[in-house]
Amino acid sequence: MIRVGIVGISGFGGKVLLDILLKHKDVRITYVAANSTTGRVDDIWPEFRRRTDLVCTKYDPAQAIEHCDLLFLALPHMESMKIVDPLLKAGKKVIDLSADYRLKKTSLYKKWYSAEHMDRKNISKAVYGLPEIFRAKIGKAKFIANPGCYPTAALLGLAPLVSVQGSNVASVIIDAKSGVSGAGRKVAEGFMFCFVNENFKAYRVLNHQHTPEISQYLGIMAGRELPTVFVPHLLPINNGILETIYVSLKKAVSQVRLEDLYRKFYKTEPFVRVMPNGVQVEIKNVVNTNFCDISISLSDDRKLVVITSVIDNLVKGAAGQAVQNMNIMYGFEEQEGLL
Ligand SMILES: NC(=O)c1ccc[n+]([C@@H]2O[C@H](COP(=O)([O-])OP(=O)(O)OC[C@H]3O[C@@H](n4cnc5c(N)ncnc54)[C@H](OP(=O)(O)O)[C@@H]3O)[C@@H](O)[C@H]2O)c1
Repeated sequence: MIRVGIVGISGFGGKVLLDILLKHKDVRITYVAANSTTGRVDDIWPEFRRRTDLVCTKYDPAQAIEHCDLLFLALPHMESMKIVDPLLKAGKKVIDLSADYRLKKTSLYKKWYSAEHMDRKNISKAVYGLPEIFRAKIGKAKFIANPGCYPTAALLGLAPLVSVQGSNVASVIIDAKSGVSGAGRKVAEGFMFCFVNENFKAYRVLNHQHTPEISQYLGIMAGRELPTVFVPHLLPINNGILETIYVSLKKAVSQVRLEDLYRKFYKTEPFVRVMPNGVQVEIKNVVNTNFCDISISLSDDRKLVVITSVIDNLVKGAAGQAVQNMNIMYGFEEQEGLL
Protein backbone atom coordinates (compact mmCIF):
# COMPACT_ATOMS: atom_id res chain seq x y z
CA MET A 1 0.00 0.00 0.00
CA ILE A 2 1.49 3.38 -0.95
CA ARG A 3 0.50 6.82 0.35
CA VAL A 4 -0.50 9.26 -2.38
CA GLY A 5 -1.36 12.95 -2.45
CA ILE A 6 -3.39 14.96 -4.97
CA VAL A 7 -2.43 18.60 -5.38
CA GLY A 8 -5.17 20.44 -7.28
CA ILE A 9 -8.05 18.44 -5.79
CA SER A 10 -10.57 21.22 -6.53
CA GLY A 11 -9.86 21.05 -10.26
CA PHE A 12 -11.34 18.69 -12.86
CA GLY A 13 -8.20 16.55 -13.12
CA GLY A 14 -7.93 16.32 -9.33
CA LYS A 15 -11.55 15.21 -9.06
CA VAL A 16 -11.12 12.35 -11.54
CA LEU A 17 -7.88 11.31 -9.79
CA LEU A 18 -9.82 11.16 -6.51
CA ASP A 19 -12.55 9.03 -8.06
CA ILE A 20 -10.07 6.53 -9.50
CA LEU A 21 -7.72 6.42 -6.50
CA LEU A 22 -10.53 5.85 -3.97
CA LYS A 23 -11.24 2.58 -5.84
CA HIS A 24 -7.57 1.55 -6.13
CA LYS A 25 -6.64 -1.38 -3.89
CA ASP A 26 -2.92 -0.57 -3.62
CA VAL A 27 -3.07 3.12 -2.56
CA ARG A 28 -4.30 5.25 0.31
CA ILE A 29 -4.95 8.96 -0.30
CA THR A 30 -3.19 10.66 2.59
CA TYR A 31 -2.99 14.28 1.45
CA VAL A 32 -5.11 16.60 -0.73
CA ALA A 33 -4.41 20.26 -1.39
CA ALA A 34 -5.26 23.22 -3.59
CA ASN A 35 -4.56 26.93 -3.49
CA SER A 36 -7.53 29.16 -2.64
CA THR A 37 -10.04 26.31 -2.20
CA THR A 38 -9.94 24.56 1.19
CA GLY A 39 -12.27 22.48 3.36
CA ARG A 40 -13.90 19.06 3.26
CA VAL A 41 -13.52 17.42 -0.12
CA ASP A 42 -17.16 16.33 -0.04
CA ASP A 43 -18.16 19.98 0.28
CA ILE A 44 -15.97 20.88 -2.71
CA TRP A 45 -17.31 17.88 -4.69
CA PRO A 46 -20.66 16.83 -3.10
CA GLU A 47 -20.87 13.63 -5.17
CA PHE A 48 -18.12 12.26 -2.91
CA ARG A 49 -20.33 12.34 0.22
CA ARG A 50 -19.91 9.04 2.11
CA ARG A 51 -16.96 8.14 -0.10
CA THR A 52 -14.34 10.26 1.68
CA ASP A 53 -13.63 12.31 4.80
CA LEU A 54 -10.55 13.96 3.29
CA VAL A 55 -9.97 17.64 4.00
CA CYS A 56 -8.28 19.93 1.49
CA THR A 57 -5.72 22.41 2.78
CA LYS A 58 -3.59 25.05 1.12
CA TYR A 59 -0.56 23.34 -0.42
CA ASP A 60 2.30 22.96 2.05
CA PRO A 61 5.47 21.15 0.86
CA ALA A 62 6.40 19.93 4.35
CA GLN A 63 2.97 18.27 4.77
CA ALA A 64 3.15 16.74 1.29
CA ILE A 65 6.59 15.30 2.00
CA GLU A 66 5.63 13.98 5.42
CA HIS A 67 2.41 12.27 4.35
CA CYS A 68 3.09 10.93 0.83
CA ASP A 69 5.26 8.53 -1.17
CA LEU A 70 3.88 9.83 -4.48
CA LEU A 71 2.32 13.17 -5.44
CA PHE A 72 -0.03 13.77 -8.36
CA LEU A 73 0.17 17.41 -9.42
CA ALA A 74 -3.03 18.50 -11.22
CA LEU A 75 -2.04 22.16 -11.41
CA PRO A 76 -2.06 24.82 -14.09
CA HIS A 77 1.19 25.13 -16.05
CA MET A 78 3.78 27.36 -14.36
CA GLU A 79 2.58 26.11 -10.93
CA SER A 80 4.03 22.59 -10.99
CA MET A 81 7.50 23.86 -11.80
CA LYS A 82 7.45 25.87 -8.55
CA ILE A 83 6.98 22.81 -6.35
CA VAL A 84 8.54 19.79 -8.08
CA ASP A 85 12.18 20.23 -7.03
CA PRO A 86 11.76 19.92 -3.22
CA LEU A 87 9.54 16.86 -3.71
CA LEU A 88 12.14 15.10 -5.87
CA LYS A 89 14.93 16.10 -3.48
CA ALA A 90 12.96 14.53 -0.62
CA GLY A 91 12.86 11.27 -2.60
CA LYS A 92 9.17 11.50 -3.48
CA LYS A 93 7.79 10.23 -6.77
CA VAL A 94 5.89 12.81 -8.80
CA ILE A 95 3.39 12.54 -11.66
CA ASP A 96 2.77 15.98 -13.12
CA LEU A 97 -0.38 16.43 -15.21
CA SER A 98 0.62 19.90 -16.37
CA ALA A 99 2.64 20.78 -19.46
CA ASP A 100 5.64 22.01 -17.46
CA TYR A 101 8.01 19.10 -18.09
CA ARG A 102 6.76 17.71 -21.43
CA LEU A 103 8.87 19.83 -23.77
CA LYS A 104 12.57 19.05 -23.77
CA LYS A 105 13.64 22.44 -25.18
CA THR A 106 13.09 25.44 -22.89
CA SER A 107 13.07 27.68 -25.98
CA LEU A 108 9.89 25.89 -27.07
CA TYR A 109 8.38 26.34 -23.62
CA LYS A 110 9.08 30.06 -23.82
CA LYS A 111 7.59 30.33 -27.29
CA TRP A 112 4.38 28.36 -26.66
CA TYR A 113 3.72 29.18 -23.00
CA SER A 114 5.07 32.76 -23.13
CA ALA A 115 7.20 32.26 -20.02
CA GLU A 116 10.69 31.28 -18.94
CA HIS A 117 10.97 27.80 -17.45
CA MET A 118 11.88 28.06 -13.76
CA ASP A 119 13.11 24.50 -13.12
CA ARG A 120 15.31 23.63 -16.07
CA LYS A 121 17.43 21.07 -14.26
CA ASN A 122 14.53 18.69 -13.68
CA ILE A 123 13.28 18.67 -17.28
CA SER A 124 15.69 15.92 -18.31
CA LYS A 125 14.58 13.79 -15.33
CA ALA A 126 10.96 13.70 -16.48
CA VAL A 127 9.84 10.63 -18.44
CA TYR A 128 6.98 11.24 -20.86
CA GLY A 129 4.15 9.12 -19.53
CA LEU A 130 2.65 7.57 -22.64
CA PRO A 131 2.70 3.90 -21.55
CA GLU A 132 2.09 2.38 -24.99
CA ILE A 133 5.37 3.91 -26.24
CA PHE A 134 7.56 4.48 -23.18
CA ARG A 135 6.49 1.72 -20.74
CA ALA A 136 10.03 0.50 -20.02
CA LYS A 137 11.24 3.99 -19.07
CA ILE A 138 8.11 4.67 -17.02
CA GLY A 139 8.77 1.48 -15.05
CA LYS A 140 12.08 2.91 -13.84
CA ALA A 141 10.98 6.53 -13.47
CA LYS A 142 10.65 8.66 -10.36
CA PHE A 143 9.17 11.64 -12.19
CA ILE A 144 6.54 11.54 -14.95
CA ALA A 145 5.44 14.30 -17.31
CA ASN A 146 1.91 13.09 -18.01
CA PRO A 147 0.94 13.76 -21.66
CA GLY A 148 -1.58 16.38 -22.72
CA CYS A 149 -5.07 15.32 -23.75
CA TYR A 150 -4.86 16.25 -27.44
CA PRO A 151 -1.34 14.79 -27.77
CA THR A 152 -2.49 11.48 -26.22
CA ALA A 153 -5.21 10.98 -28.83
CA ALA A 154 -2.93 12.13 -31.66
CA LEU A 155 0.16 10.14 -30.70
CA LEU A 156 -1.76 6.91 -30.06
CA GLY A 157 -3.59 7.34 -33.37
CA LEU A 158 -0.35 7.90 -35.25
CA ALA A 159 2.18 5.73 -33.38
CA PRO A 160 1.97 2.52 -35.44
CA LEU A 161 2.08 4.35 -38.76
CA VAL A 162 4.89 6.80 -38.00
CA SER A 163 6.99 4.27 -36.06
CA VAL A 164 7.02 1.77 -38.91
CA GLN A 165 6.41 3.97 -41.97
CA GLY A 166 8.05 7.20 -40.74
CA SER A 167 10.09 7.73 -43.91
CA ASN A 168 6.96 7.23 -46.05
CA VAL A 169 4.95 10.01 -44.34
CA ALA A 170 4.69 13.22 -46.37
CA SER A 171 2.48 15.25 -44.01
CA VAL A 172 0.14 14.99 -41.02
CA ILE A 173 -3.00 17.07 -40.44
CA ILE A 174 -4.73 16.71 -37.06
CA ASP A 175 -8.30 18.02 -36.88
CA ALA A 176 -9.12 17.80 -33.16
CA LYS A 177 -12.34 18.39 -31.23
CA SER A 178 -12.66 18.55 -27.45
CA GLY A 179 -15.39 18.84 -24.86
CA VAL A 180 -15.40 21.88 -22.59
CA SER A 181 -13.86 20.24 -19.50
CA GLY A 182 -10.56 20.31 -21.42
CA ALA A 183 -10.24 23.94 -20.37
CA GLY A 184 -10.36 23.17 -16.63
CA ARG A 185 -12.66 24.54 -13.95
CA LYS A 186 -11.79 28.20 -14.29
CA VAL A 187 -14.67 30.32 -15.52
CA ALA A 188 -14.13 32.19 -18.78
CA GLU A 189 -16.87 33.75 -20.86
CA GLY A 190 -16.14 31.68 -23.96
CA PHE A 191 -16.69 28.47 -21.98
CA MET A 192 -20.07 29.45 -20.47
CA PHE A 193 -23.11 27.31 -21.35
CA CYS A 194 -24.76 29.98 -23.52
CA PHE A 195 -21.61 30.39 -25.63
CA VAL A 196 -20.86 26.68 -26.02
CA ASN A 197 -24.26 24.98 -26.20
CA GLU A 198 -25.56 24.50 -29.77
CA ASN A 199 -22.28 25.85 -31.10
CA PHE A 200 -19.08 24.51 -32.68
CA LYS A 201 -15.94 26.45 -33.46
CA ALA A 202 -12.21 26.24 -34.07
CA TYR A 203 -9.86 28.02 -31.69
CA ARG A 204 -6.13 28.75 -31.47
CA VAL A 205 -5.81 27.67 -35.13
CA LEU A 206 -2.14 26.77 -35.87
CA ASN A 207 -1.36 28.34 -32.52
CA HIS A 208 -2.28 25.82 -29.82
CA GLN A 209 0.30 25.01 -27.14
CA HIS A 210 -0.03 21.24 -27.69
CA THR A 211 1.46 21.59 -31.19
CA PRO A 212 5.15 21.34 -30.14
CA GLU A 213 4.41 18.42 -27.78
CA ILE A 214 2.80 16.46 -30.62
CA SER A 215 5.67 17.33 -33.00
CA GLN A 216 8.36 16.44 -30.47
CA TYR A 217 7.05 12.93 -29.79
CA LEU A 218 6.03 12.22 -33.40
CA GLY A 219 9.62 13.12 -34.31
CA ILE A 220 10.98 10.67 -31.72
CA MET A 221 8.72 7.89 -32.98
CA ALA A 222 9.39 8.58 -36.68
CA GLY A 223 13.11 9.21 -36.27
CA ARG A 224 12.74 12.52 -38.08
CA GLU A 225 10.69 15.70 -38.00
CA LEU A 226 7.27 15.31 -39.63
CA PRO A 227 5.41 18.27 -41.16
CA THR A 228 2.40 18.49 -38.84
CA VAL A 229 -0.64 20.78 -38.72
CA PHE A 230 -2.84 20.83 -35.60
CA VAL A 231 -6.23 22.58 -35.34
CA PRO A 232 -8.41 22.22 -32.22
CA HIS A 233 -12.17 22.80 -31.99
CA LEU A 234 -14.57 23.20 -29.07
CA LEU A 235 -17.44 20.69 -28.91
CA PRO A 236 -20.67 21.45 -27.02
CA ILE A 237 -20.20 18.43 -24.71
CA ASN A 238 -18.59 18.04 -21.26
CA ASN A 239 -15.97 15.34 -21.81
CA GLY A 240 -14.30 13.63 -24.75
CA ILE A 241 -11.93 14.25 -27.64
CA LEU A 242 -12.24 13.06 -31.22
CA GLU A 243 -9.36 13.65 -33.62
CA THR A 244 -9.57 13.08 -37.37
CA ILE A 245 -6.00 12.68 -38.58
CA TYR A 246 -5.07 12.87 -42.27
CA VAL A 247 -1.71 11.31 -43.18
CA SER A 248 -0.42 11.79 -46.74
CA LEU A 249 1.97 9.07 -47.82
CA LYS A 250 4.69 9.22 -50.46
CA LYS A 251 4.16 5.60 -51.54
CA ALA A 252 0.89 3.66 -51.50
CA VAL A 253 0.17 1.07 -48.78
CA SER A 254 -2.35 -1.75 -48.75
CA GLN A 255 -5.40 -1.77 -46.46
CA VAL A 256 -4.53 -5.24 -45.22
CA ARG A 257 -0.98 -4.20 -44.33
CA LEU A 258 -2.21 -1.09 -42.57
CA GLU A 259 -4.75 -2.95 -40.47
CA ASP A 260 -2.23 -5.65 -39.67
CA LEU A 261 0.24 -2.99 -38.53
CA TYR A 262 -2.26 -1.40 -36.09
CA ARG A 263 -3.54 -4.71 -34.72
CA LYS A 264 -0.05 -6.05 -34.06
CA PHE A 265 1.19 -2.76 -32.55
CA TYR A 266 -1.61 -2.64 -29.99
CA LYS A 267 -2.21 -6.40 -29.60
CA THR A 268 -1.19 -6.52 -25.92
CA GLU A 269 -2.22 -3.00 -24.93
CA PRO A 270 -4.93 -3.00 -22.24
CA PHE A 271 -6.31 0.45 -23.11
CA VAL A 272 -6.12 0.79 -26.90
CA ARG A 273 -8.88 -0.72 -29.02
CA VAL A 274 -8.48 -0.84 -32.81
CA MET A 275 -11.92 -0.91 -34.43
CA PRO A 276 -12.91 -3.56 -36.98
CA ASN A 277 -12.63 -2.41 -40.60
CA GLY A 278 -15.52 -0.02 -41.46
CA VAL A 279 -16.47 0.69 -37.82
CA GLN A 280 -16.00 4.30 -36.70
CA VAL A 281 -14.96 5.32 -33.20
CA GLU A 282 -17.42 7.32 -31.08
CA ILE A 283 -16.78 9.58 -28.09
CA LYS A 284 -19.63 8.03 -26.09
CA ASN A 285 -17.84 4.67 -26.10
CA VAL A 286 -14.81 6.03 -24.22
CA VAL A 287 -16.22 8.72 -21.90
CA ASN A 288 -15.46 7.84 -18.24
CA THR A 289 -13.01 5.14 -19.36
CA ASN A 290 -9.26 4.95 -19.85
CA PHE A 291 -9.65 3.58 -23.38
CA CYS A 292 -8.41 5.09 -26.62
CA ASP A 293 -10.39 3.79 -29.61
CA ILE A 294 -8.88 4.04 -33.08
CA SER A 295 -10.32 3.55 -36.59
CA ILE A 296 -8.25 3.56 -39.78
CA SER A 297 -9.36 4.13 -43.39
CA LEU A 298 -7.46 4.32 -46.68
CA SER A 299 -8.26 6.36 -49.81
CA ASP A 300 -8.78 4.72 -53.21
CA ASP A 301 -5.27 5.70 -54.37
CA ARG A 302 -3.97 4.18 -51.08
CA LYS A 303 -1.84 7.24 -50.32
CA LEU A 304 -4.09 8.99 -47.81
CA VAL A 305 -4.68 7.37 -44.43
CA VAL A 306 -7.50 8.77 -42.28
CA ILE A 307 -7.24 7.86 -38.61
CA THR A 308 -9.93 8.68 -36.07
CA SER A 309 -8.96 8.52 -32.41
CA VAL A 310 -11.14 9.10 -29.32
CA ILE A 311 -10.40 9.42 -25.61
CA ASP A 312 -11.92 10.95 -22.49
CA ASN A 313 -9.74 14.06 -22.02
CA LEU A 314 -9.90 13.75 -18.21
CA VAL A 315 -9.27 9.98 -18.05
CA LYS A 316 -6.90 8.62 -20.74
CA GLY A 317 -6.07 12.28 -21.47
CA ALA A 318 -5.17 13.09 -17.84
CA ALA A 319 -6.03 11.32 -14.55
CA GLY A 320 -6.52 7.78 -15.86
CA GLN A 321 -3.25 7.83 -17.75
CA ALA A 322 -1.56 9.26 -14.62
CA VAL A 323 -2.82 6.30 -12.57
CA GLN A 324 -1.78 3.89 -15.35
CA ASN A 325 1.71 5.41 -15.08
CA MET A 326 1.70 5.00 -11.30
CA ASN A 327 0.68 1.35 -11.72
CA ILE A 328 3.63 0.78 -14.05
CA MET A 329 6.07 2.67 -11.77
CA TYR A 330 5.15 0.53 -8.77
CA GLY A 331 4.63 -2.78 -10.59
CA PHE A 332 0.91 -2.82 -9.73
CA GLU A 333 -1.57 -4.47 -12.11
CA GLU A 334 -1.66 -1.96 -15.00
CA GLN A 335 -5.47 -1.92 -15.13
CA GLU A 336 -5.93 -1.52 -11.33
CA GLY A 337 -8.48 1.22 -10.58
CA LEU A 338 -9.08 1.79 -14.27
CA LEU A 339 -11.58 -0.86 -15.39
N1 LIG B 1 -8.85 19.40 -18.18
C1 LIG B 1 -8.30 18.49 -18.98
O1 LIG B 1 -8.97 17.84 -19.79
C2 LIG B 1 -6.81 18.23 -18.90
C3 LIG B 1 -6.30 17.16 -19.65
C4 LIG B 1 -4.93 16.90 -19.61
C5 LIG B 1 -4.10 17.70 -18.83
N2 LIG B 1 -4.62 18.75 -18.14
C6 LIG B 1 -3.70 19.57 -17.37
O2 LIG B 1 -3.81 19.20 -16.00
C7 LIG B 1 -3.65 20.34 -15.17
C8 LIG B 1 -4.90 20.49 -14.31
O3 LIG B 1 -6.00 20.69 -15.17
P1 LIG B 1 -7.49 20.88 -14.64
O4 LIG B 1 -8.35 20.87 -15.83
O5 LIG B 1 -7.75 19.92 -13.52
O6 LIG B 1 -7.38 22.38 -14.03
P2 LIG B 1 -8.39 23.16 -13.10
O7 LIG B 1 -9.73 22.52 -13.15
O8 LIG B 1 -8.29 24.59 -13.48
O9 LIG B 1 -7.79 22.94 -11.62
C9 LIG B 1 -6.56 23.50 -11.22
C10 LIG B 1 -6.30 23.10 -9.79
O10 LIG B 1 -5.00 23.59 -9.40
C11 LIG B 1 -5.14 24.23 -8.14
N3 LIG B 1 -4.06 25.21 -7.99
C12 LIG B 1 -3.79 26.28 -8.78
N4 LIG B 1 -2.68 26.91 -8.35
C13 LIG B 1 -2.24 26.19 -7.27
C14 LIG B 1 -1.14 26.33 -6.37
N5 LIG B 1 -0.25 27.32 -6.51
N6 LIG B 1 -1.00 25.43 -5.35
C15 LIG B 1 -1.89 24.44 -5.19
N7 LIG B 1 -2.96 24.26 -6.01
C16 LIG B 1 -3.12 25.13 -7.02
C17 LIG B 1 -6.52 24.85 -8.16
O11 LIG B 1 -6.89 25.12 -6.83
P3 LIG B 1 -7.83 26.37 -6.39
O12 LIG B 1 -9.23 25.91 -6.59
O13 LIG B 1 -7.50 26.57 -4.97
O14 LIG B 1 -7.44 27.53 -7.29
C18 LIG B 1 -7.30 23.67 -8.78
O15 LIG B 1 -7.52 22.69 -7.81
C19 LIG B 1 -3.42 21.52 -16.10
O16 LIG B 1 -2.05 21.79 -16.22
C20 LIG B 1 -4.00 21.05 -17.43
O17 LIG B 1 -3.38 21.67 -18.55
C21 LIG B 1 -5.96 19.02 -18.14
